[in-house]
Formats: sequence, structure tokens, C-alpha cells
Amino acid sequence: MKKLDDFRLKLGNKELVPIMIGGMGVDISTTELALEAARLGGIGHISDAMVPAVTDRLYKTHFVKDKLKKYKYNADNNDKSVVQFNLDNLAEATKIHVSKTMEQKQGDGLIFINCMEKLTMNNPAGTLEVRLKSAMDAGIDGISLSAGLHLGSFSLIKDHPRFHDVKLGIIVSSSRALNLFLRKTARLNRLPDFVVVEGPLAGGHLGFGMDWADYDLKSITREVIDFLAEKDLSIPVIAAGGIFTGSDAVEFMELGASAVQVGTRFTVTNECGLPEKVKQEYFKADEDDIEVNLLSPTGYPMRMLKKCPACHSGVSPNCEAFGYLLDAKGNCDYITAYNTELAKQPEAKKIIVKDKTCLCYHMRKFNCWTCGHYTYQLKDTSYKLDNGDYQMLTAEHVFKDYQFSVNNQVALPEPEAG
Ligand SMILES: Cc1cc2nc3c(=O)[nH]c(=O)nc-3n(C[C@H](O)[C@H](O)[C@H](O)COP(=O)(O)O)c2cc1C
Repeated sequence: MKKLDDFRLKLGNKELVPIMIGGMGVDISTTELALEAARLGGIGHISDAMVPAVTDRLYKTHFVKDKLKKYKYNADNNDKSVVQFNLDNLAEATKIHVSKTMEQKQGDGLIFINCMEKLTMNNPAGTLEVRLKSAMDAGIDGISLSAGLHLGSFSLIKDHPRFHDVKLGIIVSSSRALNLFLRKTARLNRLPDFVVVEGPLAGGHLGFGMDWADYDLKSITREVIDFLAEKDLSIPVIAAGGIFTGSDAVEFMELGASAVQVGTRFTVTNECGLPEKVKQEYFKADEDDIEVNLLSPTGYPMRMLKKCPACHSGVSPNCEAFGYLLDAKGNCDYITAYNTELAKQPEAKKIIVKDKTCLCYHMRKFNCWTCGHYTYQLKDTSYKLDNGDYQMLTAEHVFKDYQFSVNNQVALPEPEAG
């Protein structure tokens, strides 16, 4: 009976435990979580989503306050096109977050950063270029391009001295998306070092429509592996989304994947950035507490716990401080939805916006409880305590369970004393 530890992921001259902990913004996949993955010989991710807000919280910088001060005069204006991110500050924030992480790295593994294209920040190419280059400057081992097709992303960094040394990969949900990306990169003579194939059961934004349930990760993984073989390209394929046990992971390795990317099982570990009481909500969730909805202003479906504070809230947009989802013209679907509701009930003290959520505000507050499909199985991975809560896990325990378990078993942790 094979276990995941019987396999290795080869990336350049590195041989890694084939476990990648996915990027989970905003600071849900923390520095501490990424460090554990690297220490144990796998790959961890930090995320560059809302990185100025993250460094403010972690390192007492004041990027958000300064931006708000500069643009406060615009708060009542529906036109947000003037609100721009200061690119030097963005570079500084990214460098702080990445370098503080990388300087603590131990072990043989790697730490990557997850960069979402949909984080358009009022200046899609400009802010993405700064985020990518600053992460490379600060010594990140690799970059996972996510939430978008990233057709222009490689050319944004093609002149960077680390363009050929940093590990670059893309997250796709179909061979069609991969094909589009490869056609673009072909001109730059630079193939991705890895491809993450993310299926419909993952957490975060989904690369599918509301017909997500019609797709399955095994078929898409097979399709991508076959597509690469046809093209005679040898790029490691990493499967993601709904891989809950070591045995699930082995099935993907036997199919031809080179590693797995996982997230949900780590949301209930000490190292995960979610607040303690939110982790308990993940532990306690039942299958019908979870939905895929269209509340994200990005337009991508997102899986969430239905009862999270981000659902059906009506906070007023605060793009002067945040504004991460403003497109190049200063529009965000949440602002439109908010203003529509406000026009319907101008006298109301508190309005509810049903169609969209303010992802900036709610992600920053850990109010948007995005989760993988199998979150409802987390309760089977630990012990219920006398007070009804579940015993928190360590990232090491979950990592090693993926690495060594067989027969679809999930190892329970050592029970806490008392
Ligand atoms: C709480 C949470 C937040 C996530 N946030 C992001 C994100 O910001 N960017 C991204 O590319 N993927 C995100 N994901 C997807 C994960 O990186 C990973 O690919 C996926 O969840 C793997 O499936 P699993 O959760 O079933 O193991 C998120 C997943 C979770 C559970």
C-alpha cells in the first residue's frame, strides 16, 4: 500500500515532499504555516493579497492609514478612479512580508507567494508588476499565479534578474486555460516550472461557473497531463481541491500528478491565520452549512460558510483605505450593488446588500469564511472537547498525516491533557 512519502516532487535540482500548502489570502496561510511546510520538506505559501493591510497588522506599518489620509476627501464620491496605490509603498509592504518570512526559513522545503491577478487595485498591470518583482527582490523561492489567466504576467517580470531562477507556476482549472498561457509564455522562452490544476472542490475563488459540480478534479488532472504529454512538455502537475487524506493524494500521484496542493485541512491548525473562534466554525460545519455563491465582486464563484458575517452584510465601501478590487477605471461590483441598495432605501440606517460582499473589508477582518468542500469532514480529524469545541491541530500533525497515512485513514492528534 503506497503512501505519499513514497513519491518526491522534482523542481529543478530540488527533491521535495510532494505536499504544497496552498496560498490562502488574506494571511490565512501565514508565515508560520509556510515555514512549517518548508521545514518539513514540502512547499508552503504566503499570499500577497492586501499585503499593505497585512504588514500593518503584523509589523506595525501604517500603509492603510496613510492611503486613507491621502484620499479621505474622496470618500463620498462614487467615482473611485483617483484612488491609486502608491507603488513604492506597495513594493515596501511586499518586501517586508516576504523578507520577514524568508529570513526565518529552515529545512529543505520552499516558500512561494500566491499572486492573484483579480487583485486589480485600480492599476492591474502596474500593481501586479510591483508585487511580483518585490517578492522576487525579497528572496521568495517561487510564485504561484492565481485567480486569472495571467497572459501578461511573465512579460511583466521578464527582465528581472531572477526571472529564470525563481520557480514560477500557474493555477489553472482546464487545459484550455493552460494552453492560452503557454502560447503567451512561448514567446519569452520561459515555461512555467509547475502547473497547479485546481478542481471545483477547492476553497477560495473557483475557476468554474456555477456549474462547478459538473467537473471533477481527476478528469481535469488527466486532461492536463495528457495535454502536456501531447505537447512533449515535461512540467510537474500539482492537483488541488478536495484532497483530504494521504490516500486521496496517492491516487493523484498514481494518475501522474507530481504533487498535491492542499488547504482545508490546515485551516484548523494553530499556524493558520484565522481567529480561534472561526477555526471552530470550520470544525463544526456540516455539509449544508457550506455554499458556493457569487458574492465575490471578482465575478468568480466562491465557497463559503453560509453564516459568515460577509454574507448579506452592507458595509459602506472603504476603497480610499482598501480598494484592492477596483478595476482600471475605479469600478468594483460591490460599490454598484451597494449604491443600488442605498438608492432603494435612502433613509435606512443599516442596509443589506444581498448580491455582493465587500471582500476587502471582510477578508481583512477574517469575516469571509471561505472554505473547501470537505470542510464538513474536519470534525473527524480531531477530538471534541467537553465544552463542545474541537482540539486544535498542529500543521506538522496534518502535514505528516498527508505524508504517511494509508487506507484512507486520518490520524487523530495526541489528546490534550485534561
Ligand atoms: C480558506 C481558504 C482560502 C483560500 N484562499 C486562496 C487564495 O487567496 N488564492 C488562491 O489561489 N487559492 C486560495 N485557496 C485555495 C487553496 O490554495 C487550495 O488550492 C485549495 O483550497 C485546495 O483544496 P482543499 O482546500 O480541498 O485542500 C483558499 C482555500 C481556502 C480553504
